[in-house]
Amino acid sequence: MSEAKTENQLRVDERLQHIAFIMDGNGRWAQRRKMPREYGHKVGAANFKKVVRHCGDIGIKTVTVYAFSTENWSRPPREVKAIMRLLEEYLDGCDADPDAQSIRYRFIGDRSVLSEDLRRRIDRIEEISAGRELTLNVALNYGARDEIVHAVNSLLARGVEKVSAEDISSALYTAHSPDPDLIVRTGGELRLSNFLLWQAAYAELYFTDVLWPDLSEEDVDEAVRHFYARQRRFGGV
Ligand code: IPE
Ligand code: IPE
Ligand code: MG
Repeated sequence: MSEAKTENQLRVDERLQHIAFIMDGNGRWAQRRKMPREYGHKVGAANFKKVVRHCGDIGIKTVTVYAFSTENWSRPPREVKAIMRLLEEYLDGCDADPDAQSIRYRFIGDRSVLSEDLRRRIDRIEEISAGRELTLNVALNYGARDEIVHAVNSLLARGVEKVSAEDISSALYTAHSPDPDLIVRTGGELRLSNFLLWQAAYAELYFTDVLWPDLSEEDVDEAVRHFYARQRRFGGV
């Protein structure tokens, strides 16, 4: 990192603890280059590492990324396989990645249908990274409706007869993290696509046409500046 960059670097404060990213646009990024969609996921995965590192550099404590939704299984098997393969590669490499030594990995979503191999890798990285500083929630086979249903069922199984909002929050996959302050979606679509529906109640939303593989550190800073320019009222005046 250059000195000039360090000097000018943005720093967040306690108002912005958690940024979540809907990493969209990999497929279109590749198609525009006459390349297969899988190539877009590969470049997107590399960019994901860069973006997470930058979030850590500017002082974000929790980053959540939407990597694969409960609906993404409907894609062609070849594409699904390529995404799962990239995830495995990522999990195998992140241990040795000097930029990732402060990351605490947490996977959110329904793991029960993932391959045994992938599950083993996930358990391992969660275990060895426990206690580290920057929490990275990777949403994998994640769907917010699925998460809420799962939460309510787990409360029922515990014998709870009447649920409160706190009960639900504490039974979600994200129970360990504060709600996101800012949700950034790349790729130009203006929707949440079943991401963090409960937790996003008061999140600031930021949409950009930039496709995920192109999202730069400066683009992240731009989203952060937009966040600070907003007035969060939480229903007050
Ligand atoms: C990445 O972007 C998100 C994933 C589901 C992995 P897409 O693959 O949805 O890319 P576009 O939206 O088709 O361009
Ligand atoms: C959302 O992107 C899911 C992820 C980024 C993993 P999609 O590309 O699946 O969303 P839709 O289909 O445009 O709503
Ligand atoms: Mg998409």
